[in-house]
Amino acid sequence: MKKARIAVLVSGGGTNLQALIDAEKSGIIKSGEITLVISSKEGVYALERAKRANIRAVTVAKKDFSGDQERFEKALISALSENESDLIILAGFMSILSEAFTSRFEGRIINIHPSLIPSFCGEGFYGLKVHEAALKRGVKVTGATVHYVNEIPDGGKIIMQKAVCVDENDTPETLQKRVMEQAEWNILPEAAEKVCKIIIEGKK
Ligand code: GRF
Repeated sequence: MKKARIAVLVSGGGTNLQALIDAEKSGIIKSGEITLVISSKEGVYALERAKRANIRAVTVAKKDFSGDQERFEKALISALSENESDLIILAGFMSILSEAFTSRFEGRIINIHPSLIPSFCGEGFYGLKVHEAALKRGVKVTGATVHYVNEIPDGGKIIMQKAVCVDENDTPETLQKRVMEQAEWNILPEAAEKVCKIIIEGKK
């Protein structure tokens, strides 16, 4: 059976990319194959992970477009089209995409966010800031969410969520680590498989 071609967009260390690579190897992802990694930053470790897994990796450096989002997105679209990507996975991709971009790939872009949406999400909630806000508010349960991407930051339909308990002694760093280990690295591959299946069944 034909597999969905997955492009993973990254900007950093790429632990979620690694979880996807491992899940493809172990057969958790069986309806898709990672055929492209695009980084919006030069020299990040995610690129090394792609290289080690023999996955084509390209850098479309946001800083080279001096704030011109339209040109940046055009460059992304050209890399994606050339690769004939079916599914785009944002895995720590530090750029908000325009409506022109998200509507072009409706139902074919997903993102991982390190909280239980609709808490601690939207513009400005990224990285450690999410966990700082959760601790400040005193929530006892947080987690991660995989959702479809639309024009509203973290606003698309939810695909999968997993809860993680907050410890009394948590710092933003310890909480971030536990949310990644217990939630993000599990639900992102599972959600990817789910959406790949929907895409290939729709293609038949
Ligand atoms: C993760 O916490 C993810 O939820 C967020 O950015 C971080 C990326 O980490 N969107 P990594 O690059 O996958 O290690």
